[in-house]
Amino acid sequence: MKERILTGDRPTGPMHLGHYVGSLENRVKLQEEYDCFFIVADYQFLTDHLRETEYTEEFIKLVLLDWLSVGMDPEKSTFFIQSRIPEITELTMFFSMLVSLARLQRNPTVKEEFRASGLGAISYGFIGYPVSQAADILVVRANLVPVGDDNLPHIEQTREIARTFNGIFGEVFPVPEALIGRVDRLPGLDGQKMGNSAGNAIYLIDSPEKVREKVNTAITDPARIRASDKGHPDICNIYHYHCAFNEEEKSEIEKQCRQGKIGCVACKEYLAGKINRFLEPIREKRAYFEARPQMVREAVLRGNERARREGEKTLELVREAVHFDYRNLLEGETIAV
Ligand code: TRP
Repeated sequence: MKERILTGDRPTGPMHLGHYVGSLENRVKLQEEYDCFFIVADYQFLTDHLRETEYTEEFIKLVLLDWLSVGMDPEKSTFFIQSRIPEITELTMFFSMLVSLARLQRNPTVKEEFRASGLGAISYGFIGYPVSQAADILVVRANLVPVGDDNLPHIEQTREIARTFNGIFGEVFPVPEALIGRVDRLPGLDGQKMGNSAGNAIYLIDSPEKVREKVNTAITDPARIRASDKGHPDICNIYHYHCAFNEEEKSEIEKQCRQGKIGCVACKEYLAGKINRFLEPIREKRAYFEARPQMVREAVLRGNERARREGEKTLELVREAVHFDYRNLLEGETIAV
């Protein structure tokens, strides 16, 4: 039996290179060896986008196309939509009793996202989404969860929930482990966290011209004014990108930058070329699936069905463990009076 993986994304818009190095790339490899479930977390999108739900469907489509275009394969893995699996919601209800409010309030990622959201007050659903994320993971009884480092607090929360549940009701859930991708976090073009709202990201759907334009505007080593000045690759944003997308030339670039032999303009040109070559097959694959919406639809319908079957099995185990199966009351022989 293959070990089981669950991971996924909120449908917040097109995915960027940070998503790629942080998780997508890893998923493509993992699906060869593991039974992978990939979730589009549409309920989680509501936490900070409640007034933009008219875009949800379009964003879900974008996520599915991003997945397919990088080589995530619905023949090998299970793609599904969170809100289409009612067992996730049911499991969230049980799990919500196992977590204190104070514990949720300590989650640094939730705090950060709330701050960034600009919302006046945090909703019950927002503060509690790590509980629902635990249900995403445990509804298929996953063992491994590949995520970026920002999601580590949620995996820790999931592990606590699994342990607490098992401690009270008996062993039902595995205690899943996080798996981190090869680059912890790719900075945005401005050196800040790469994100959809910050306008500092290169998207998988960006055209070659767009990529060149964006790379050109990126911030490099601020102490470097002339091309012949000695550079500091360790604090240069663009050098981070060379590390992620230009493995072969990165040490040469580092050397030349330190000696002031390569200027930022040339260095950026190399990088834009590299990124475009990397994106080319992804663009082709995307065009293929964009022209075949029926294939995308079938992939997710099949995935939803499989996730539901797993969810039903899990909920049966949970109800039995919690003594919520009510066999006597609901399934016993009816006695005629
Ligand atoms: N929180 C993840 C993100 O920030 C998305 C997500 C939802 C997820 N459910 C999950 C990730 C379950 C891993 C496992 O994009």
